[in-house]
Amino acid sequence: MYSTVICSLTLASVLSSVAGVATLDKRQTTNATASDGGSGIPTINDVTNPVCKPFVAVRDAIMGDIFQGRCNDNARAAIRLSFHDAGTFSLSREAAGLDNGGADGSLLVDPNEINRSENNGMQTIVSLLKPLPEKFDVSPGDVLHLAGTLAVIACPGGPLVNTFVGRPAVKNDNPTGLIPDTHDTVSNIVNRFSDMGITVREAMALIGSHTCARQRFVDLAFANDTFDTTPEIWDIRFYAETKRNDSDPGVFRLPSDLAFSHSSLTQDDYNRFVGSLSTQEDWAREYADAHEKMSMLGQDVSALTDCTEIMPEAIHLRDITVTSSGGAVDPAVDPAKLEAEIQRTRSIWLQ
Ligand code: HEM
Ligand SMILES: *[C@@H]1O[C@H](CO)[C@@H](O)[C@H](O)[C@H]1NC(C)=O
Ligand SMILES: *[C@@H]1O[C@H](CO)[C@@H](O)[C@H](O)[C@H]1NC(C)=O
Ligand SMILES: *[C@@H]1O[C@H](CO)[C@@H](O)[C@H](O)[C@H]1NC(C)=O
Ligand SMILES: *[C@@H]1O[C@H](CO)[C@@H](O)[C@H](O)[C@H]1NC(C)=O
Repeated sequence: MYSTVICSLTLASVLSSVAGVATLDKRQTTNATASDGGSGIPTINDVTNPVCKPFVAVRDAIMGDIFQGRCNDNARAAIRLSFHDAGTFSLSREAAGLDNGGADGSLLVDPNEINRSENNGMQTIVSLLKPLPEKFDVSPGDVLHLAGTLAVIACPGGPLVNTFVGRPAVKNDNPTGLIPDTHDTVSNIVNRFSDMGITVREAMALIGSHTCARQRFVDLAFANDTFDTTPEIWDIRFYAETKRNDSDPGVFRLPSDLAFSHSSLTQDDYNRFVGSLSTQEDWAREYADAHEKMSMLGQDVSALTDCTEIMPEAIHLRDITVTSSGGAVDPAVDPAKLEAEIQRTRSIWLQ
């Protein structure tokens, strides 16, 4: 059973660490260790903080079994899941002393929350993550938000997001009606983010995660359409393509994203991410900061432990663009370099 004393080295977590070592021993036969710059994946022996060690095995279960080392459907769903878990936090409810939501993993615990219409499409990722808290004796919130930050890094170009653990057990069912809908007005969405404690600038960085995304339920006639032309790559194309309202086959524009790109409330912050390769790096940094904040909404941040040391290395798009693109608007990724980089850094998870 999941214990509320999540950071103590209980028997179960020692056992799961041992299991982690066994998995990692297999990896070491590939000569891949963080210290030799091989795989960029820290082993349990590389991890210095004992609080973080149990999460190495959780990381491996998520990256290997669930994401298959890639930006797959489960990874995309995990990024959205981290938003829908955290996005039930409300500063006004907090001020009023009401039961609140936040980055607590409630979506893995409350069987009714996943059945809310706004959470449709995340049933599979929830069912895959649900057993992990008990299996590894860690909290549901830590599992869910580790899955979110690992998913970002599984998508080539996705930045390293600082990753914290130590979220306590879920306190109460999370309030309903707080996740923004794509048909809401910009001002309502901006107000809702503000009530979460998220600024417009941070929100405009966060929606860039639609770069690795698909829709199934907004328009059934276009199920599985992506939100930009490069759904496998964590790039800034989403921003420019959406702003131009390009009509590319298989690409869908969410009404809210189109509105953000033109509304006076959001366009200045939105436009900051329409640009070139250097813009890509700015966005990656700002996204990482905003996602980190999102992953701790409603939590006592001072009680959490920084376990970023367990995270694998990011794949930087600057290393895999076509040589001739030199500063072209929209980084042009070389497909062969992309595939080679995915294989180099990710094949290790599948062993
Ligand atoms: C501004 C408010 C937002 C609205 C209105 C919104 C709306 C949507 C909608 C309608 C979908 C498609 C769902 C479907 O039909 O399957 C979607 C997908 C997605 N959203 Fe958002 N979103 C917002 C913000 C965010 C944020 C802050 C994140 C994360 C940082 C995020 C991450 C994703 C991802 C990764 C997907 C793809 C999921 C998949 O492919 O399975 N969204 N969003
Ligand atoms: C590990 O590295 C050594 C020396 O570079 C090499 O001989 C050996 O084949 C490598 N092992 C694997 C599994 O790649
Ligand atoms: C959630 O929806 C599924 C599928 O419709 C259903 O089988 C399940 O019983 C529902 N769960 C709850 C708690 O209502
Ligand atoms: C959407 O993709 C899923 C697999 O991810 C597939 O099962 C489904 O048939 C697809 N739907 C359409 C309409 O293409
Ligand atoms: C975007 O383009 C579609 C046609 O491709 C059009 O129907 C829609 O009105 C446009 N939306 C905006 C906000 O420009």
